[in-house]
Amino acid sequence: MNIININTRESYDCIVGEGLISLVPSLINDLTINSNIALITDDIVDKLYADSLFNDLKKNRKLKTIKLVIKSGEKSKNKETLFNILEFLGDNNFNRSDYLISLGGGVVGDIVGLSSALYMRGINYIQIPTTLLSMVDSAIGGKTGIDLKSGKNLVGAFKEPKMVICDINIIKDLPSSIFKEGMAEVIKCDIIGNLGIKNNILNNEIKDNIESIINKCLYLKKDIVEKDEFETNGLRKVLNLGHTIAHSIEAISNYSISHGNAVGMGLLIESKISYELGIINKETLDEIINILKISNLIFDLKYDIDELISFMKNDKKNNDELISFILIESFGNIKEIKLNEKELKNILNKIMK
Ligand code: GLY
Repeated sequence: MNIININTRESYDCIVGEGLISLVPSLINDLTINSNIALITDDIVDKLYADSLFNDLKKNRKLKTIKLVIKSGEKSKNKETLFNILEFLGDNNFNRSDYLISLGGGVVGDIVGLSSALYMRGINYIQIPTTLLSMVDSAIGGKTGIDLKSGKNLVGAFKEPKMVICDINIIKDLPSSIFKEGMAEVIKCDIIGNLGIKNNILNNEIKDNIESIINKCLYLKKDIVEKDEFETNGLRKVLNLGHTIAHSIEAISNYSISHGNAVGMGLLIESKISYELGIINKETLDEIINILKISNLIFDLKYDIDELISFMKNDKKNNDELISFILIESFGNIKEIKLNEKELKNILNKIMK
């Protein structure tokens, strides 16, 4: 078991290891001994893991343990689900000393995190991510949120969890379509931090090394969020690599394209933009395309460029007429570039034809 302390404004542990789901009651005991617990999950994870966790949590606890199941998928990350959770807490007389536990992927984690930021102006929560994507990215760092029709994650708050528990065995059992979505965020981390994961991908040894890969991504994210928790000094922005395009793809598809798949395509298109601007060399571009291909993250994308750009303008990463991109010089060297609409349109016309 590896314990990574995330030393942000409120420091907390991210625990990584095999079979941790059955240890949750003891891992969280000190935090929650005098608290009611609301376990919140989605309908898919409920059948797989929530029932037994819920029963384990109820054992030996005098205080209330309740469960709420939301519908799985990005389309649930909206105000209706948020208010269902908040009303559920209110109906059950939860107060600030109680705990929410998020059991699920990024959607559940983000919406439970936001509920915990809002309910009574702040209640505690614990993240138990059940996808590779949420383990390496969304479960730590305190970004929470829901989507609006006009764009992804446009309503949110920074709210760090009190603990994050990553059970590697859950990742080993993921269907390949969900696993590969997490690989998009893993590849993003590898490009940002030059973590050497590309060699694991090229040598087809991802699954054998998944625990160390997850740990590498978590240490990278720890390092970044500790230096720029609230995305104010520019450092944390690098984690948005691939995401300017990805968020537009998700919104334009009305969230029928998943976040991971959109990030994969975002990495591809943003690498190509880097090449068009002469920032990245051909060899590195080809290397990135190759690892995205091996990871099954490249697919046909036929979207109207004007529509893509119109969603990019709504993205919260932009604060003037220019659209911000995190672009790639090489593995380990990333920089922000701002493009005006005309420049961007010309480049996208070239690379998306
Ligand atoms: N997912 C990007 C961040 O946490 O900043």
